[in-house]
Amino acid sequence: MTAQIIDGKAFAATVREKVAGHVARLKEENGITPGLAVVLVGEDPASQVYVRSKGKQTVEVGMNSYEHKLDVDTPEANLLALIDKLNNDPAVHGILVQLPLPGHLNEDLVINSIDPAKDVDGFHISNVGLLGTGQKSMVPCTPLGCLMMLRDHHGSLSGLDAVVIGRSNIVGKPMAQLLLGESCTVTIAHSRTKDLPEVVKRADIVVAAVGRPEMVPGDWIKEAATVIDVGINRIDAPEKGEGKTRLVGDVHFESAAAVAGAITPVPGGVGPMTIACLLANTVTACCRANG
Ligand code: GUN
Repeated sequence: MTAQIIDGKAFAATVREKVAGHVARLKEENGITPGLAVVLVGEDPASQVYVRSKGKQTVEVGMNSYEHKLDVDTPEANLLALIDKLNNDPAVHGILVQLPLPGHLNEDLVINSIDPAKDVDGFHISNVGLLGTGQKSMVPCTPLGCLMMLRDHHGSLSGLDAVVIGRSNIVGKPMAQLLLGESCTVTIAHSRTKDLPEVVKRADIVVAAVGRPEMVPGDWIKEAATVIDVGINRIDAPEKGEGKTRLVGDVHFESAAAVAGAITPVPGGVGPMTIACLLANTVTACCRANG
């Protein structure tokens, strides 16, 4: 293996420390405690794990955490009424509605009912537009975490060729916007892209966000490229025993690490950065709300 491992777990710990410092100063100097409200509709097990983790880390950095758990069949009007209440609550600086929502709820309508200034996910259409036009916005947490790791590793990203594999609203599209903002030459690749291996081979930076286990093999990667693996996929691991599973990314780690200059592992890469950036966004929202 030649690649440097980009340790997202350690990086996230430093981000949380900085956030905790900001929170302490806001309390001491302004008497303000940032507050994050997380709304979970239904009992999706993966979402429950994420929400629990977000709440725990929010409290650990000294912020207030408000968890709202609603029944799976909650009428849309009730969810919108809760969001309206949180929008008007001065103790709440950030609001996150955990996705995916149950099928009867209109995700776009719900997200766009959040006050854009409290939209710590950066999913509101106003924040999407602000990011796309290079204006001050709330930036989606996962791409923000990826960008922080890339900046830390490279310094300037100006002029580098970046390929983002995946065109989701949550990761792929905002990631591409952020890289464009850093003056990268950006390609967004997806399931219909022709000659994907060739496209990836041109890239100095590869961000894989497709949700397909180990889809990107090492021989697609350019020598010394930086590889950011956003995928978190659980696959069978019979070598660990019957019924056992393990987590893998969208990149085949061993083969990619043999050619890349730097790579994020799964787990311990992008994942921990996402919640750290959520906490950072909540402090940002709090500071903006209080001038
Ligand atoms: N579900 C999976 N990732 C996310 C995220 O970043 N934000 C929200 N709100 N829901 C998610």
